[in-house]
Amino acid sequence: MRTKLVIANWKMNLDISESVQLAKKLKLSFLKKLWQDQVVICPDFLSLSSVYQALNKTKIRLGAQNCFWQEVGAYTGEISPKNLKQVKADFVILGHSERRYYFKEKNEEIALKVDLALKTNIKPIVCVGEALTDHQKGRTLSTLKKQVKQSLQGIKLKSKDKIVLAYEPVWAIGNGKNLDPKEVVKILSFLKAEIAKVFSSTKAENNFSFIYGGSVSAENVKDFAKFKEIQGLLVGSSSLKLRNFSKICNDFLS
Ligand code: 13P
Repeated sequence: MRTKLVIANWKMNLDISESVQLAKKLKLSFLKKLWQDQVVICPDFLSLSSVYQALNKTKIRLGAQNCFWQEVGAYTGEISPKNLKQVKADFVILGHSERRYYFKEKNEEIALKVDLALKTNIKPIVCVGEALTDHQKGRTLSTLKKQVKQSLQGIKLKSKDKIVLAYEPVWAIGNGKNLDPKEVVKILSFLKAEIAKVFSSTKAENNFSFIYGGSVSAENVKDFAKFKEIQGLLVGSSSLKLRNFSKICNDFLS
């Protein structure tokens, strides 16, 4: 997967009407941009349909922030990827560090979700990243290796399947302390090598894209854009303001 992506993770920051307002502004701002279809907006579940309508006649893509690992059944409160597909989500964020931390999501569970998302024709955006203590104790690579291996355990990739692997160091999220893009490049190449070991180097090249998230902003986006190895950005806080997000998309995708 070569096309660069910019993915907005709105988390739980906007209510439905705020989500629609921002989507309408994005539509106007991105109207003539050739890279529209390289932008993915991930609102909360309840805003997906309204945001889809607000973005009509654009090629901006839609993603969800989570899903369940069963398609149907007695699972009170869960959301099936089948329903995400029906509300036009093409992507789903899985294993975000906030879900791993607050909801104790385990790699094994994430692997089941990845599997079902692929079978439903939704592209998983699988998040991995080390916590501050692992970073400080030099355990970054071993943590990532385990997360990648276990979060993709048992996945049988078909040639059409696409997975976005997002490296988001937990200590760089939401605080303005982004990882130096040169270091990002090293980690992404490590991840690619790990993927090649689990699957094959052809699959690592053709079925995966490798992206970064963690305090990406309108100010630092050009530093990331310099490196072709950084195939996409997963943006939190800076995706919530039209001006910041437009600049990020323009600088990274133009
Ligand atoms: P920030 O861009 O706010 O650091 O959030 C990153 C993130 O968690 C995106 O999924």
